[in-house]
Amino acid sequence: MPFLELSLIVRTEQQPGTEEALDDLGALSITLQDANAETPDEQAIFEPGVGELPLWPTITLNALFDAGADRRGLAEALGELLPWLEPDQLTFRDVADQDWERAWMDQFKPMPFGRRLWIYPWNIEPPTHNESGDEELVVVRLDPGLAFGSGTHPTTALCLEWLDALDLAGKTLTDFGCGSGILAIAALKLGAASAVGVDNDPQALTASIDNAERNGVADRLAVFLPQDFNATAAPADVFIANILAGPLGELAPTFAAAAKPGAPFAISGILVGQQDELLQRYAEWFDDLRVDTREDWVRISGRRRG
Ligand SMILES: C[S@@+](CC[C@H](N)C(=O)[O-])C[C@H]1O[C@@H](n2cnc3c(N)ncnc32)[C@H](O)[C@@H]1O
Repeated sequence: MPFLELSLIVRTEQQPGTEEALDDLGALSITLQDANAETPDEQAIFEPGVGELPLWPTITLNALFDAGADRRGLAEALGELLPWLEPDQLTFRDVADQDWERAWMDQFKPMPFGRRLWIYPWNIEPPTHNESGDEELVVVRLDPGLAFGSGTHPTTALCLEWLDALDLAGKTLTDFGCGSGILAIAALKLGAASAVGVDNDPQALTASIDNAERNGVADRLAVFLPQDFNATAAPADVFIANILAGPLGELAPTFAAAAKPGAPFAISGILVGQQDELLQRYAEWFDDLRVDTREDWVRISGRRRG
């Protein structure tokens, strides 16, 4: 089915109201992008938690409607819901299904993370071994769906590289803020015995299960909403969370309870400049803390004390 895409750029504080108005008008999907990103790769789809605003100063919202939707009617109705809206802020474009799928696949190429781990889109058949043929590759096949986590974002890359460097054989892992499930699935493919994914977005849990099934590891992945996750029930051998600095600070005691004594742990989703406060907070429960950076983003890793 083809679609009509309505796009507009708004300031960060205008995003929640605009999203709600587009929802009210029957948008089938809404995508958020950084309006200042220079390349498509930088335009990571950002899925803020409830009440959180994206960090970008201006945001492009792309909303899809049925192809037959009335452009003028939509513009007028949106103008009534958003009094600050100028008519020339809106652009419309017809989107064919095929274009849409191809655009997504064109952007998403096989990507290596660390020594063995690769993320491959479904339209490209991966090799079984590295170029010299002496090492088997660990491949995650991915369609992130509506959830964050395709490997193109620096924070996901930092986390995947950290996982690739660990010996995960037979270990249990908790992935808090699992999004597409990419980190938990990568850990399972790298040899972890079982994994738990937690996310406050039910759509992310659906995407995680779906991606795990397609990668043949669903029988070893359990997913939970945060309110259903019992941190102390079975502390994990390895703990990872890629969220944002705010929730990472608040959730530190939960993470401490959810990681076994001695467990390697990593957190990301932290912007350069936000790490010192988190280092101080996490030092209460975690040792050997170190900071690694990619572009504007930071990963903190260490070990649960005990
Ligand atoms: C940056 S994405 C990371 C996705 C994936 N783990 C990755 O590394 O690409 C953050 C995810 O955390 C979820 N999230 C944000 N705040 C959360 C919270 N307080 N509790 C649980 N999940 C949260 C979001 O819904 C989103 O799916």
